[in-house]
Amino acid sequence: MKDKVIDCKDTKISISEMVLPNHTNNLDTLFGGKLMYWMDMAAAICANKNTKKISVTASVDNITFKSPIFKGDIVTITAFITRVFNTSMEIFIEVSSQNSESQKSVISNSAFFTFVTLNEKRKPVKSIEVKPNTEEEKKLFNGALRRRQLRLILAGKMKPEEADELKSIFN
Ligand SMILES: CC(C)(COP(=O)(O)OP(=O)(O)OC[C@H]1O[C@@H](n2cnc3c(N)ncnc32)[C@H](O)[C@@H]1OP(=O)(O)O)[C@@H](O)C(=O)NCCC(=O)NCCS
Repeated sequence: MKDKVIDCKDTKISISEMVLPNHTNNLDTLFGGKLMYWMDMAAAICANKNTKKISVTASVDNITFKSPIFKGDIVTITAFITRVFNTSMEIFIEVSSQNSESQKSVISNSAFFTFVTLNEKRKPVKSIEVKPNTEEEKKLFNGALRRRQLRLILAGKMKPEEADELKSIFN
């Protein structure tokens, strides 16, 4: 049976949280580990809603904390699938924070998560395909192969000489 093809934009989900005192560090700003938990949760919801199967986090690319998020801010995390490889998929996460009084919103960070879809025997399976339409989606879709090879090399799952998308870096 052919895999279901979904437009990248239709895979998008978003979740919001208000930063409460028990989410903060000693500077009254959002604790990084709490934000990473929310990012992983958004990615998991995106993967599970679209594949309609259990999908687990396989890897997270580097997360940089560009600007602090303050107590009382509203954090919104959006997630969409940029590309499905075989059993794994890349999910782009973007975090914005909004001051509840001024309503001013800033993008505070972004990251790529890789999720793997599992069957009832907990074995990786292929489920869906995604199709990019906008210029931004196409750029992310095309770059996904390069990022995949880089993360597999870093995880010791691919030899640098096999990474045809990264020839200019490694050879
Ligand atoms: C993720 C996991 C299922 C992969 O299992 P595995 O035995 O390595 O399976 P495979 O080697 O067949 O790889 C399956 C897919 O995962 C991808 N993958 C495995 N490790 C990866 C990594 N470090 N980074 C990116 N992708 C990875 C492979 O490239 C492959 O993708 P593809 O089918 O699209 O080519 C397994 O490592 C696992 O269960 N990890 C724990 C997951 C977990 O508990 N997460 C946190 C809680 S949700």
